[in-house]
Amino acid sequence: MAEPRKIIIDTDPGQDDAAAIMLALGSPEELDVLGITTVAGNVPLSRTSRNARVVCELCGRPDVKVYEGAERPLLRQLITAEHVHGKTGLDGPVVDEPVMKVQDQHAVDFIIETILSHEAGTVTLCTLGALTNIALALQKAPDIAPRVRELVMMGGGFFEGGNITPAAEFNIYVDPDAAKIVFASGIPIVMMPLDVTHRVLTYKSRVEKIRAIGSRPAVAMAEMLEFFERFDIEKYGSDGGPLHDPTVIAYLLRPELFKGRDCNVEIETASELTVGMTVVDWWQVTGRKHNAKVMREVDDQGFFDLLTERLARL
Ligand code: RIB
Ligand code: CA
Repeated sequence: MAEPRKIIIDTDPGQDDAAAIMLALGSPEELDVLGITTVAGNVPLSRTSRNARVVCELCGRPDVKVYEGAERPLLRQLITAEHVHGKTGLDGPVVDEPVMKVQDQHAVDFIIETILSHEAGTVTLCTLGALTNIALALQKAPDIAPRVRELVMMGGGFFEGGNITPAAEFNIYVDPDAAKIVFASGIPIVMMPLDVTHRVLTYKSRVEKIRAIGSRPAVAMAEMLEFFERFDIEKYGSDGGPLHDPTVIAYLLRPELFKGRDCNVEIETASELTVGMTVVDWWQVTGRKHNAKVMREVDDQGFFDLLTERLARL
């Protein structure tokens, strides 16, 4: 068995972030979670940091180190998404307040120190929220860029458009300036856009399979999904909601579940109409340098089978 892949999860939990964290912690043979770094996004930083620790304790993993990061975007005012995730950001299950503490070190310094202290090309960044922490780390220590193995991110959209505006997906929209820095960094990026995540829907049958596992983390996850999906069911009239963030972790575990291509991706940061848009040169018409592997297709049943199987291990 190969060595587990070393990852840092940068996140703004969020029920779908929680599913991603659970998927990662349910896969210790393949993934070594060096730390979880939190960022403001779905809800303010104090809540995303609380929620990350709630999820770790739900998984019986109070040993996981959680580091607090940016409480607002680089330049813009913070926007949040309580309308989707509820006031706590983790509405759905009744949970205990976390006992585990956040680490003293700032998330940005943890990211820098971890990348510089590990052999080049061995640390993977998994981003599930705005890219503010990553951009700050790159600004503070540009020499980390060539040392990062890969940055697998949930964010953006192209054929599917946006979800917070007609043009922009939430994670990019919250901090488009950070996204611009990250996409220009030269770090190998794998992008999981709405084009993929809108195909992984939490059908009732899928949520019931998760609840039927019967464990505390699995039942809590089913309750999170039932709350989280109501907004998207209403908005899209779909059976279930898109389970965005765990696609990032699933890619690390079973990349063959996904299909996409190397593209150039640029970020709109100026136009008020389309700020936060990921302009994906899918048809290769600009000749601009490829800076991301953009995913467009997913085996959604294979994804849910993997998620359910790993949740059962917690
Ligand atoms: O647009 C979906 C993304 O925004 C997901 O990561 C969700 O958790 C929110 O952060
Ligand atoms: Ca998220």
